[in-house]
Amino acid sequence: MTEKLPAHVLVLFGATGDLAARKLFPGLYRLAAAGRLPHDYVIIGSGRNSPGTDDEFRQQVRDGLDDTVGDLDADVIDDFLGRISFQTASSDDGADLAAAVREAEEAFDDEGADTDDVRRLLYLSLPPAAMQPMIAMLHTEGLTERARLVIEKPFGLDLQSSRELDAALKDVVEESQVYRIDHFLGKEAVQNILALRFANGLFEPAWNAKSLASVQIDVPETLAMEGRGSFYESTGCLRDMVSTHLCQLMGFVAFEDPDSLDEKCVRDSKAELFGAIRPLDREHVVFGQYDGYRDEPDVAEDSDVETFVALEVHIDNDRWRGVPFYLRTGKAMAQTRRTITLRFRTPETTLLRGAEPIPDELVLELTDDPKITIDVRAKMPGPTMDLTGASFRLDLGEEVPHGEPLEAYERLLLDVLNGERTFFTRADEVDRLWQVIQPLLDDRPEVLPYDKGSWGPQRAIDLVEGGWRLGGSEES
Ligand code: BG6
Repeated sequence: MTEKLPAHVLVLFGATGDLAARKLFPGLYRLAAAGRLPHDYVIIGSGRNSPGTDDEFRQQVRDGLDDTVGDLDADVIDDFLGRISFQTASSDDGADLAAAVREAEEAFDDEGADTDDVRRLLYLSLPPAAMQPMIAMLHTEGLTERARLVIEKPFGLDLQSSRELDAALKDVVEESQVYRIDHFLGKEAVQNILALRFANGLFEPAWNAKSLASVQIDVPETLAMEGRGSFYESTGCLRDMVSTHLCQLMGFVAFEDPDSLDEKCVRDSKAELFGAIRPLDREHVVFGQYDGYRDEPDVAEDSDVETFVALEVHIDNDRWRGVPFYLRTGKAMAQTRRTITLRFRTPETTLLRGAEPIPDELVLELTDDPKITIDVRAKMPGPTMDLTGASFRLDLGEEVPHGEPLEAYERLLLDVLNGERTFFTRADEVDRLWQVIQPLLDDRPEVLPYDKGSWGPQRAIDLVEGGWRLGGSEES
C-alpha cells in the first residue's frame, strides 16, 4: 500500500457504464493489486439507476473484471470488492450520495484518519448535457470540498458550451482541482514520444521543417458503434476523436521542448503550439460515414453524423511552417492502429537519383509495447548503385521485457490520486482546440460514404501528397 497517500473516497458517476466496466474498475483493480492505492479508500459507484443491492453491484464489477483482467488474485479482489458500494444520485438529488460519502469519511475517522484530511476523487463520466447540473449538485451538497474532479471528454459540444462548462467549474472549484482527462495522454507509447524525441541526438535535430516533409497521425479503428449509437449521434467523430485525442497527440509530437515535465511547463508549451494552428481550410477536411451506420441501433435513418474525419493541419511557427500534419481517424475501417509517421524530406543530392518512391520515414506505433520503425533507403547489393528500402525495427516490449507498462486509465487515475496534472489538459488548451474546430461545426463539410473495412472515402485517401502510410506505402 502507498502509505503517503491520504485516505480517499472515490465516487464514480456512470459506474454501471461501459467506461467504468472496461477501463476504470480494471485500472483501479490493477492499482490495488500493485499496492498503489491509498491504505484507506472506498469506491462509491453512482448513477441514476440502481444496479440492485451492493452485493449485486459488486458481483457485476467482479464479472466485468473476470472479462477484462482475467486472472484475479483472491485476496486482492476480496479486499477490493469489500470497499465498493453503490449509491444512486442525480443532479436533482444528491443528498443520499452526500450522506454516503460522509459516512465513509467518518468510518476512516474511526480508524484514525482525520475526516478533514480525507480526499474526494469525483469521476464524472457523463454525457455533456448532464455535466453542468451534476457539478452544481456536487457543490450544493458540499461534495466539492477537498475534491478532485475528473472530467471526461468531450468538454462541451462546441466552443460556447465548453466555455459555459468551464465557467460552471470555475464557479465552484479551483482550476487546480480539475482533471480533464484525455486517456491518450496516459498511454505509455504516447509518453514515449517525449523520450524518443528529446533524449536522442539522432532525432531531436531532425524534428523540424528542414528535415521533415509531413507528419501523419493516423488512428483508424475497425470498431463500429458497439451500442454507442446514441453517443455518436450527439458527438460524432470530430468531437470524439479529433479535437481531443488526435490534437493532443499532435501537441506532443510538435510542441517545443517544455524544459521540464512540470505541469505548467508541459501545458504552456502545448497551449503555445495549439495557438499556432492555422485556421482549418474546409477544402482540406473530409468527413465520412460508413455504409450501414444508419442501420445501427439509436441512429437516425437520415443521420449525417460523421464517423470518419481526415484533415490537413498547418502550424504557423518556425519549426513547422511548410510541414502539413495529416490527421485521420474513423470507425469501421480496415485496421485498428495508432500510428504516427514522420516522413523525411529527400536530401538534395544528385548522387542518388530516383530515391523518391522508397519511404524514408520514422514510424511510431502507439501500442501498449511501443514499436518504432525507421524506413531508410539503402544500396541494393550488387554491381549498380541502385537503391532499395530497408527498415530498422524496435519493439520495446521485447527489448525491455522487465518493463511494467500501466494501462492509460490506470496511469492517469494514479496521477489524480497523487495530484499530478502534467498529462491532463488545461482549460485554455481545450478552448483553443474548440476555436480551431468550431468553423467545421458551423459549416460542416459534406459527409461522404465509405465502405466498412476500407480506408475511408477516396477524397481522404487523396488528401496526402505521397499517400498515407497505412493502406498505402506500408503495404508497398
Ligand atoms: C474513446 C473514444 O475516447 O477512445 C472511442 O470515445 C475510441 O470512440 C476510444 O474508440 C479509443 O481508445 P483506445 O484506448 O481504445 O485507443
